[in-house]
Amino acid sequence: MSTAISPTAYNYKVVRQFAIMTVVWGILGMGLGVFIASQLVWPELNFGLEWTTFGRLRPLHTNLVIFAFGGCALFGTSYYVVQRTCQTRLISDSLASFTFWGWQAVIVGAIITLPLGYTTTKEYAELEWPLAILLAIVWVAYGMVFFGTITKRKTKHIYVGNWFYGAFIVVTAMLHIVNHASLPVSFFKSYSAYAGATDAMIQWWYGHNAVGFFLTTGFLGMMYYFVPKQAERPIYSYRLSIVHFWALITLYIWAGPHHLHYTALPDWAQSLGMAMSIILLAPSWGGMINGMMTLSGAWHKLRTDPILRFLVVSLAFYGMSTFEGPMMAIKTVNALSHYTDWTIGHVHAGALGWVAMITIGSMYHMIPKIYGQKQMYSVGLINVHFWLATIGTVLYIASMWVNGITQGLMWRAINEDGTLTYSFVEALQASHPGFIVRALGGAIFASGMLFMAYNVWRTVRASNPVEAEAASQIAVVGAH
Ligand code: HEM
Ligand code: HEM
Repeated sequence: MSTAISPTAYNYKVVRQFAIMTVVWGILGMGLGVFIASQLVWPELNFGLEWTTFGRLRPLHTNLVIFAFGGCALFGTSYYVVQRTCQTRLISDSLASFTFWGWQAVIVGAIITLPLGYTTTKEYAELEWPLAILLAIVWVAYGMVFFGTITKRKTKHIYVGNWFYGAFIVVTAMLHIVNHASLPVSFFKSYSAYAGATDAMIQWWYGHNAVGFFLTTGFLGMMYYFVPKQAERPIYSYRLSIVHFWALITLYIWAGPHHLHYTALPDWAQSLGMAMSIILLAPSWGGMINGMMTLSGAWHKLRTDPILRFLVVSLAFYGMSTFEGPMMAIKTVNALSHYTDWTIGHVHAGALGWVAMITIGSMYHMIPKIYGQKQMYSVGLINVHFWLATIGTVLYIASMWVNGITQGLMWRAINEDGTLTYSFVEALQASHPGFIVRALGGAIFASGMLFMAYNVWRTVRASNPVEAEAASQIAVVGAH
């Protein structure tokens, strides 16, 4: 069989590229997470150099894990899912290739500029204007490839996973462009086009929906394809998935003000954000239940299939963090949790438990398929990885709950004469044991990624180009 590009084959080359880089960036981003977590335990690790301070490496960590690791996973799986569910090849190989190389260029740009201190200072939108423009161009190309492929589909309807991926692509473009509107004063410095409370509101409208659409809706697209595939069961309720979709995208967009409780933002906007966040529990849990119930009649598979375990446990963490989030959005609860490690614990319940675990499970399903292999090199190693990831996540979030509540209570404790009972440094000292446990949990989680890298490397090495090309042939309708 020839290995030349065939019009009857899926474009798996770009999927393979994104899949491999997901693992690479996962290791680097999480490794950096462990490093900054260690800096909070041993501040000497700042090395007295400006480039390696916590303040500069922290945004690099968030950019690497969200945009490099999470982004590559979303590009790779969406290209895989859209082709298979539409039974057609991507609309343009060159445009798809441009999205791969363009995205890697943005990430390399982040790795260079953030440690040097070039930043817009807006969280999750730190990249300065030249990189932000490159990102916008790559994103528009991504939209063209994704929606273009949908238009030439061979199937009648558009599978629900694609609706989620599609919303993630459209809304991310909108958020990025609006929040990055700025006035450049030099090649490396720009000022936001907005001022004061408006600037803060636009930033957190962006920030919250980066969570809602990048870290949630895109990964729900992944969930709707890979959970039924791995469980070998149809999705529990197709009707619920449609209600889930419309309810989620309608509500998420209003919840941003819960990041700005007790600030200069008008009070009505804060209360609106709080109310919308509480209502958001319903569609979030609707989606989680739909994923979980897909296992009806297949629960026994959890005993032997660690990939399915990754996917199901990720849904459990999704359910947990989307319960915790609405609670934290209540103003009186937020008065305690805001600025504390509780937020950091909530973030990583979502980031490690949901985003990373659903990605890892999906990759273990997809990688053998795109390399023409029956399964990963070692199922035993996937099992080891599963336990490392689960234990690591639990250590991380449990330590941050303890720290968060300790900090919140110590900061607000007041003596009879109205003076503060504890100084800030005392609360910091009380947090030290929690920082150690978090660094340990993070290291355990990150070490699992090394097992994954080895397993992926052996799987890829076992494959040959002929097998890989044969695997990419488009199957008959109904077999996706
Ligand atoms: C081994 C795994 C990881 C470790 C050890 C780790 C560690 C850390 C640390 C120490 C911080 C700074 C906390 C602070 O400022 O007090 C942080 C922030 C953050 N990390 Fe991670 N992280 C890991 C994985 C991830 C992953 C996979 C994601 C996303 C998919 C992620 C997303 C974030 C975000 C969004 C923040 C900022 C939170 C905020 O500002 O509230 N992390 N991480
Ligand atoms: C119904 C769903 C959710 C709601 C209502 C919600 C609500 C909240 C609230 C109230 C905060 C604290 C804001 C503050 O005090 O500054 C927060 C922070 C955060 N949440 Fe969630 N959350 C939800 C789900 C998730 C999920 C699934 C993830 C991750 C995948 C996530 C990631 C984050 C991040 C990264 C932050 C930190 C933002 C920052 O300050 O840098 N959330 N969320």
